[in-house]
Amino acid sequence: MAPSVSLCLLGVLLVLAGNEVMIALSRNSDGGDTVMEEEELLGLFKVFGALLDDPEWARVHPQPCTDTPWPGVQCELAEDPPIFHVTKIHIGPDIINPPCKTTAHLSSSLQKLPYLKVLSIFNCFVTSDPVILSPTLFETLSSLEHLALGSNPALCGQIPSSLGHIASLRVLSMSQNNLRGNIPHELGGLLNLEQLDLSYNNLSGEIPEEIGGLKSLTILDVSWNSLEGQVPYSLGQLNLLQKMDLGSNKLLGRIPQNLGKLKSLLLLDLSHNFMNGPMPVTLSGLEQLQYFILDHNPINSEIPLFVGSLKRLASISLSGCGLTGPIPYSLSSLKNLTALSLDNNSLIGTIPPSLGSLPNLDQLNVSNNQLSGELLLPEEFIGRLGKRLDVRGNNGLCTSNKKNVSIYLETPVCLDKISNCHHKICPEQNQDESRGMQSSWYHGKTTSSNYGVGFPDQKLLHWNNG
Ligand SMILES: *[C@@H]1O[C@H](CO)[C@@H](O)[C@H](O)[C@H]1NC(C)=O
Ligand SMILES: *[C@@H]1O[C@H](CO)[C@@H](O)[C@H](O)[C@H]1NC(C)=O
Ligand SMILES: *[C@@H]1O[C@H](CO)[C@@H](O)[C@H](O)[C@H]1NC(C)=O
Ligand SMILES: *[C@@H]1O[C@H](CO)[C@@H](O)[C@H](O)[C@H]1NC(C)=O
Ligand SMILES: *[C@@H]1O[C@H](CO)[C@@H](O)[C@H](O)[C@H]1NC(C)=O
Repeated sequence: MAPSVSLCLLGVLLVLAGNEVMIALSRNSDGGDTVMEEEELLGLFKVFGALLDDPEWARVHPQPCTDTPWPGVQCELAEDPPIFHVTKIHIGPDIINPPCKTTAHLSSSLQKLPYLKVLSIFNCFVTSDPVILSPTLFETLSSLEHLALGSNPALCGQIPSSLGHIASLRVLSMSQNNLRGNIPHELGGLLNLEQLDLSYNNLSGEIPEEIGGLKSLTILDVSWNSLEGQVPYSLGQLNLLQKMDLGSNKLLGRIPQNLGKLKSLLLLDLSHNFMNGPMPVTLSGLEQLQYFILDHNPINSEIPLFVGSLKRLASISLSGCGLTGPIPYSLSSLKNLTALSLDNNSLIGTIPPSLGSLPNLDQLNVSNNQLSGELLLPEEFIGRLGKRLDVRGNNGLCTSNKKNVSIYLETPVCLDKISNCHHKICPEQNQDESRGMQSSWYHGKTTSSNYGVGFPDQKLLHWNNG
């Protein structure tokens, strides 16, 4: 049946071959005639021929816009003249058959599809020879709004700077390929761009300052590359940005002060870079921030107090940041906090017991620090978190001998004498480590008054004096 349909179409094409505009006639389900430009149809066949391991595709889908549709192709009916144009091509694991060929590549016939709005190709250039994006490939695609080429390990070479001329682009997503070279500064011309995702490639060089001019951007993800240099100051102009992920690169320098202007930001991820502290106080302007991910950077300063004022925070990750000083008591006012990772730092003082009354806190890792004193977290909290509470690797920390609510604490029991003296601290152990411990308690005391949050000052004073 399919071959006869295709023969039929071929006949129509031959008959019309002499006309000025070559068109392909097809009969739609209502019995009315609708048409498609022949050049566009043949272009589509060539594009699929270069991608799919199915020589029959064009014969089985001679009228991909009407009678013989395929889920990876969408068309739209133009008004005048009433002909169909291909507006979407999608290839990916969510569309079962046919598979991509081992020699899959992007045909230059793509240029014959000027009405294309969406081009998305996932998991297609996998075992093939290296596929390089030619600078002219997208030249005629002036309607393209959504370009997504992802999970294509054989997609190599550079991001063509000519992409910066497709003014209609709203989404540019090229994650998990093998792209290298710089991020072209020409991308700064994409003034309608809402999402830019270049994560998981091997891009190098600096983040172009021009990215800060993409005023419509809501998502900027360039994580997992080899980007260098400083975070451009200009990124602070992205008023609509909700997600900024620059993690796992080689960025250095300080966090630019004006990132604090990102009033819409929900996620800030600068983890696994070489960024220094202190963190600018201006970040207190990130009113919407829910995810503050900074782990594995040589911040080497104290946890700033403003973190406790970012009321929407759900997750804070500051592991391996060389942090010094105490854990601010103000963190206990973050009612929506679910995960707090402060492990592998040089934090001193106590673990604020009030963290244990945060209703949503479900993961607390303060392991590998220099925290001290008795662990005064509520038993209910310790029991609820189980393994997700990690206080190991803090030599000055001990638990009351009454508490055996979690087998995961691995923290020595505070000596008996101490519990009898009602001060809920461990003088015996403190004396062993004498001066260091004294100063850390002192630190906890002074910071508590600075933060204006309840802290057992009197007990401490009592103990210090007596
Ligand atoms: C990334 O690119 C650099 C050269 O710029 C190269 O040395 C390195 O091997 C590449 N890494 C991967 C994973 O391809
Ligand atoms: C905390 O989370 C709840 C539920 O997700 C949300 O309704 C509320 O607005 C959040 N509070 C803040 C201060 O963000
Ligand atoms: C702790 O941080 C140091 C750098 O400060 C790093 O070298 C080490 O691998 C980290 N350890 C863990 C367990 O993450
Ligand atoms: C806490 O962090 C350390 C690294 O410092 C890690 O080894 C450990 O697995 C983490 N604990 C939990 C419960 O995730
Ligand atoms: C705490 O409980 C574990 C098992 O749940 C037990 O092996 C251990 O002896 C107990 N420790 C104390 C001090 O009671």
